[in-house]
Amino acid sequence: MQQTTTIAELREIVREQRSRGNTIGFVPTMGALHAGHLSLIEFALQRSDYVVSSIFVNPKQFGPNEDLESYPRQLQIDVEKLESVNCDLLFSPSASQIYPDTFETQVRLTTTTQGLCGDYRPGHFDGVTTVVLKLLNLVTPDVAVFGKKDYQQLTVIRRMVEDLGLNVEIVGAPLIRDHDGLALSSRNAYLSHEERSQALSLSRALKTAKQAFLRGETKSSKLIRIALDVINNSELRLEYLELRNSKNLAPTEEATQDSLMLVAAHIGTTRLIDNIEFVST
Ligand code: PAJ
Repeated sequence: MQQTTTIAELREIVREQRSRGNTIGFVPTMGALHAGHLSLIEFALQRSDYVVSSIFVNPKQFGPNEDLESYPRQLQIDVEKLESVNCDLLFSPSASQIYPDTFETQVRLTTTTQGLCGDYRPGHFDGVTTVVLKLLNLVTPDVAVFGKKDYQQLTVIRRMVEDLGLNVEIVGAPLIRDHDGLALSSRNAYLSHEERSQALSLSRALKTAKQAFLRGETKSSKLIRIALDVINNSELRLEYLELRNSKNLAPTEEATQDSLMLVAAHIGTTRLIDNIEFVST
């Protein structure tokens, strides 16, 4: 795998690949990679000739009381993981490469960033769209892959790309879970053994609601109640639990195959999110 930390070298490598006729795939990450991230690289490899991954813990998407300082950083282990799935290039810039002292631009979406995580993490999506637009402009990929684990983020990025007419195909890849159902997340590293077993109620709650839907229950309020019963039986402190339309995240009263249930909760000092699509696959 090639590696670079500079924008100049990244541009040079991408230009060279394009001159050979190769299409470019891109998977942006904040590192502390797990099988969920690696599945995105595999998605990108299937859809492009040369895959660039980035690792950048983006300070602009962390709130003042969030975990920027403690966010897990393990570059050498990440490099080995990326090599194991045949990623072609790792771009791991310093903060000053991405945000030099003169940097003053902010990309802000007004609607898809409201509700759900947007209500609990003010400014978070502004940080995400600002860095993702910059990274897309630096890498100039044909295809960029984002996980459905962060469903609202995927929706926000799709909207930005459409609004601004960016010449890139955004691909949403399935949410990858651990063997016990917990959605893989870099933040799972924060969990104690006991917290981890409590956290399983998130995926259990979503699964129970989906099963009720598949058995014929379509009332949103009923399905929410079914999931809440599972969460209220745990130590989780709920932020939100909502049923939305998976295409545009509009709230829904009646569940359909297009519905999506999303949840965010705290266990101890760790904030976790999860979601489930109601489509029967
Ligand atoms: P990060 O949390 O590192 O996630 C990078 C990508 O991996 C995102 O597209 C995320 O949705 C995906 N991902 C994480 N866990 C996953 C799982 N269990 N299954 C499938 N995909 C998963 O998301 C970010 O970083 C940042 O906001 C970023 C887009 C890099 C901008 O800074």
